[in-house]
Amino acid sequence: MRIAMIGTGYVGLVSGACLSEFGHNVVCIDKDAAKVEALRQGVIPIFEPGLEEVVGANARAGRLTFESAMAQAVSEAEAVFIAVGTPSRRGDGHADLSYVFAAAEELACHLRDYTVVITKSTVPVGTSHQVKQIIARARPDARFDVCSNPEFLREGSAIEDFRRPDRVIVGCDSDRARDVIREIYRPLYLHETPIVFTNPETSELIKYAANAFLATKITFINEIADLCEKVGADVQDVARGIGLDGRIGAKFLHAGPGFGGSCFPKDTLALLKTSQDHEAPARIVEAVVAVNEERKRRMAGKIEAAFGGVRGKTVAVLGLTFKPNTDDMRDAPSLAIVPQLQAAGATVRAYDPEGGKEARKLLDVTLCDSAYEALDGADGVVILTEWNEFRALDVARMKALLKHPLMVDLRNIYRPAHMAAEGFTYVSIGRAMAAPQ
Ligand code: UDX
Repeated sequence: MRIAMIGTGYVGLVSGACLSEFGHNVVCIDKDAAKVEALRQGVIPIFEPGLEEVVGANARAGRLTFESAMAQAVSEAEAVFIAVGTPSRRGDGHADLSYVFAAAEELACHLRDYTVVITKSTVPVGTSHQVKQIIARARPDARFDVCSNPEFLREGSAIEDFRRPDRVIVGCDSDRARDVIREIYRPLYLHETPIVFTNPETSELIKYAANAFLATKITFINEIADLCEKVGADVQDVARGIGLDGRIGAKFLHAGPGFGGSCFPKDTLALLKTSQDHEAPARIVEAVVAVNEERKRRMAGKIEAAFGGVRGKTVAVLGLTFKPNTDDMRDAPSLAIVPQLQAAGATVRAYDPEGGKEARKLLDVTLCDSAYEALDGADGVVILTEWNEFRALDVARMKALLKHPLMVDLRNIYRPAHMAAEGFTYVSIGRAMAAPQ
């Protein structure tokens, strides 16, 4: 099948590359000609494990190409995906749909034969209907349908999430469009992936409800972690104990400094706006947004308490990205925590395996080339992101490099008993503080 993918950001590039790997002929389109040229050279603008290989292999096979103009690709395509950004609109938290609507206006001009236009971007309920109106107004003669097909890709595991999705969600009102979508995802039938067909509004809401639920689950265990610290319980055992209940499930129960990233913060706010616009209260999601934002600020206080105050002290921070296996800094807890520590008088030295380039634009810290370099001479170390390479650092070497054997582990990747036995004062999330033995 011939597919045009409008937008080569995180969602568009991964989706386009993986659809070409399914065997389709995909043209990825981006207005940024320099980005298109880089992609033609195999240069991937984002860090996503495995993406470079998938793009390279399918580009070499001639199934994946890149264009900065959409005319030819759209006129030849049976399906056109809109995968442009929908950032939070400044000030009110609504999703900014200007890029989606601009793409719809432009692609309308190039529709030739029957085409299915598919909104892949995360868009508020009712957007697919608006896209349909925009295209119909521009081209009353065009034969097309508009469907919603949200993505559920996690940064750092996006390729695998596309190849083996738990489900495919499709919102469309036309049997003809449904047949085209089935053909697009036919390779997934081999894995018996459920494809849920519903109407566009339901499909759009499924996306927001899923992300808001996951954000709620994380915030729930984060609050339980605070209670654990007060009553001497272990949040990891609580998570395991409740997660073994099939109705709850073990995933997304890792307590931490609060959720970040390009989706949960944006999507929970957008869902709140939709619920307010339609006078359908979403007080649980309201609480999740408020509790999460306040948590990031509280984490700085936890660190200051563990250091006995940070004025005049050097804090080594390991991990700046919002999660491991990405270079993405959007809404990362570090963006709230680090400036707060600096405002309290700390000097911050930091190391992140992939986040340095982005962090340099956003944080005024000394960026180091390794964890041990960041620790050298610091008064203590804080773990903010659970990169694998932080899980087995040489504890004796850390102790020798630090002025004081103090660790604040906001991702619970070390064990209290082990750190105490190694002579560390060890503070973590939802577990008793371990004093050095
Ligand atoms: C999320 C959704 O998982 C994905 O389905 C959707 O398409 C996009 O948004 P992503 O934002 O890439 O994916 O990362 P995710 O792995 O979901 O983590 C989001 C945030 O929650 C991160 O800040 C992470 O540190 C935090 N988190 C996640 C926790 O604090 N605890 C957990 O148990 C899981």
